[in-house]
Amino acid sequence: MSVIKVAILGFGTVGEGVYRTIQSHADELTAVLGKKVEVAAVLIKNKHKEREIREGVLVTNNFAEILELPQLDIVVEAIVDKEPTFTFLKKAIERGCHIITANKEMFAHHGKELLNLAEENHVTLGFEATVAGGIPVIQTLRQLLKINRVQQIQGILNGTSNFILTEMRVKKQSFAESLLSAQVNGYAEADPTNDVEGYDAFYKTMILSRIAFGEEPNWQDVEREGITSITSELIETAEKLGLRFKHIASLTRAGGSIKASVKPVLVGNEHPFYHVEGVENAVNVFSDIVGRITLQGPGAGMYPTASAVIEDLVYVCQSKPVKSSATPTSTSISESENPQGKETWLVYGLAKKQLSTSILWIEQVSDGTYIIQATKKDVAQLASQYNALGYYPILGEYKVEMKDEVLTAL
Ligand SMILES: NC(=O)c1ccc[n+]([C@@H]2O[C@H](COP(=O)([O-])OP(=O)(O)OC[C@H]3O[C@@H](n4cnc5c(N)ncnc54)[C@H](OP(=O)(O)O)[C@@H]3O)[C@@H](O)[C@H]2O)c1
Repeated sequence: MSVIKVAILGFGTVGEGVYRTIQSHADELTAVLGKKVEVAAVLIKNKHKEREIREGVLVTNNFAEILELPQLDIVVEAIVDKEPTFTFLKKAIERGCHIITANKEMFAHHGKELLNLAEENHVTLGFEATVAGGIPVIQTLRQLLKINRVQQIQGILNGTSNFILTEMRVKKQSFAESLLSAQVNGYAEADPTNDVEGYDAFYKTMILSRIAFGEEPNWQDVEREGITSITSELIETAEKLGLRFKHIASLTRAGGSIKASVKPVLVGNEHPFYHVEGVENAVNVFSDIVGRITLQGPGAGMYPTASAVIEDLVYVCQSKPVKSSATPTSTSISESENPQGKETWLVYGLAKKQLSTSILWIEQVSDGTYIIQATKKDVAQLASQYNALGYYPILGEYKVEMKDEVLTAL
């Protein structure tokens, strides 16, 4: 029986998970592909670390040795940072290998170039693991896009932020305490900036935009805000109103352009993301035939991410390279969903007299905290006038269902 030879770049959480899954699911892989899948080489940085890797597998910190292997069919990349990864992958594509990557930062920056290079070299590039870990969102979009026209995608794409927001609410902890708990549990890195400031979710959003709409919005035009401004007091106020803070990435095709944002928003009980808790991720896709569908599951971790990589392994082996320039058909979301462009907001640090006539006041939650309906422009203008003012959008229909404690606070 012929063999598919794989090199794994990186042997950390993801790389080791992929290595183990190739051994544990060898029979399934052989049955699907009609060939045995064999790990031929592993690239690491530190040669002195103890690792459980079978004899006969080349373990090296020199990528050139991997490229020189007599047979090499697939390169799985699970390293960190943009470089030297991008350079390694270009060389692997030029050598004629299919590529699978889990590295969202690198792929958000260089995905287009790699996809073009893969097309020129008649190989396929898999990147399922770059977005939402084990949730098969890229394959679902690929399948949907054959006929459906995708109009909007929303997602909880960063498990660390979702974990922190859940801990703050459930355990009534501060942001700092919840971040520490995420670090102790291995959900956040020593430097959590990428996660808590929204960069990680931003990169994933740009990858989703490319696959769903064939292009990305201008990166500078994307509103990116992390969760560091959310206090336990705000979480408590929201909870009393039946709302929860979620860090949500949003992509909408509207009026010929793509609107994108990555920021904290409030959702009510009826929203599919309300019950997405802890490190879970979720993606909601709205397309013209099927309507709204929601996928939910583990957004990171050794085996969920390995699952995404292994599914890609089957995908790259079975697919015929497609033109990366093929743009999915898409239509704009109906503007009638929100005729005046008004959204519902929770605002705080505001005096009633500061509300202008163009703003519809729905509820006074407590002194200085209101639920209002206004255009984004009006709210931003208010915030520029009053430094103490903070505001968060409420997604979906907001129903006035105030609990007793809030009513007595009025
Ligand atoms: N962890 C997750 O749940 C998850 C989920 C989805 C996507 N990802 C993405 O997957 C990638 C890997 O994540 P991870 O969590 O597995 O990272 P990790 O545990 O830190 O492992 C990184 C691995 O890469 C190796 N490495 C780093 N720089 C290298 C270099 N210049 N040359 C050769 N090897 C190098 C390290 O070698 P040593 O072992 O010698 O130090 C280590 O084995 C990242 O891009 C991440 O964003 C991770």
